[in-house]
Amino acid sequence: KTLCRFPLRSVRGIPLMEPIAQSWESIWSFCPDPSDLLISTYPKAGTTWTQEIVDLLLHNGDAEACKRATVAVRIPFLEIISPPPIPSGLDLLNKMNPPRVIKTHLPIQLVPEGFWKNKCKVIYVARNAKDNLVSYYHFDRMNHTQPDPGPWDGYIHKFMKGELAWGSWYDHVKGYWEERENRNILYLFYEDMKENPRHEVERIMKFLDLSLSDDVIGSIVELTSFKAMKDNPMTNYTFLPEEIFDHSVSPFMRKGEVGDWANHFSSEQLQLFEEDYERQMKGTNIPFRMNI
Ligand code: PPS
Repeated sequence: KTLCRFPLRSVRGIPLMEPIAQSWESIWSFCPDPSDLLISTYPKAGTTWTQEIVDLLLHNGDAEACKRATVAVRIPFLEIISPPPIPSGLDLLNKMNPPRVIKTHLPIQLVPEGFWKNKCKVIYVARNAKDNLVSYYHFDRMNHTQPDPGPWDGYIHKFMKGELAWGSWYDHVKGYWEERENRNILYLFYEDMKENPRHEVERIMKFLDLSLSDDVIGSIVELTSFKAMKDNPMTNYTFLPEEIFDHSVSPFMRKGEVGDWANHFSSEQLQLFEEDYERQMKGTNIPFRMNI
């Protein structure tokens, strides 16, 4: 069933899948419109959830309107170069009129400069490192376009060393955090979205200069619950062929919880990870809630 686990190749020090590295010049020269909105995350931090919230907000909570196409078509993934016949992010974007919503996993220094020149709004979502890592591990098992994750213990080390696709989680979350006030970045946390989804949906709404009724906001919260999105064929990624995403290995909508890391780390692994975490995050004040 395996199609093509692409190797990684470094682009300015960041490991990216080979086809992305090959097309790097055209990705880097993408020029957005000032009205375009970027949703940026390290992989598995809550991208799809945020994409669906944003699309519903922009369509006044109209669930049918947000089923007009899959989430991957409604909100193209800027740098992705998928195996044919699936269109690349740039192909989709070039056929759409602004204002567009665009997904990326690029670290801030690799985001095409046009986004900053044009002062585009950016929504960044960060997820605590351990849950992010667990989610990425299961994703790399089922996503047959990324390198095989290998055993869990070795995967933890690759994550710590920034060797996974899109590079270091630590540099990623820090890069956007440090620039959030200089640039137009709304910095959100997956854990806050779980704890009080209504509050975070309202923050996104205000950031987008929208004002929706309380009822509409309530229905957006329901439509973007884990269960609703897992059951929605337009958001649960079963729309990709199983040669690409094999949901029998691990579903894309896997658990959607905070704290699943506790089911994966041995006490030795935890100690090592947390010591390294202290080192890598020293001097930063990103309010991650590590104890949940
Ligand atoms: S990707 O491939 O980077 O775009 O993946 P991403 O969407 O960022 O992350 C997938 C994880 O987010 C969980 N998820 C959700 N959690 C809570 N509520 C909602 N609505 C939701 N939608 C997706 C998804 O289950 C993955 O996390 P894990 O921990 O693996 O379940």
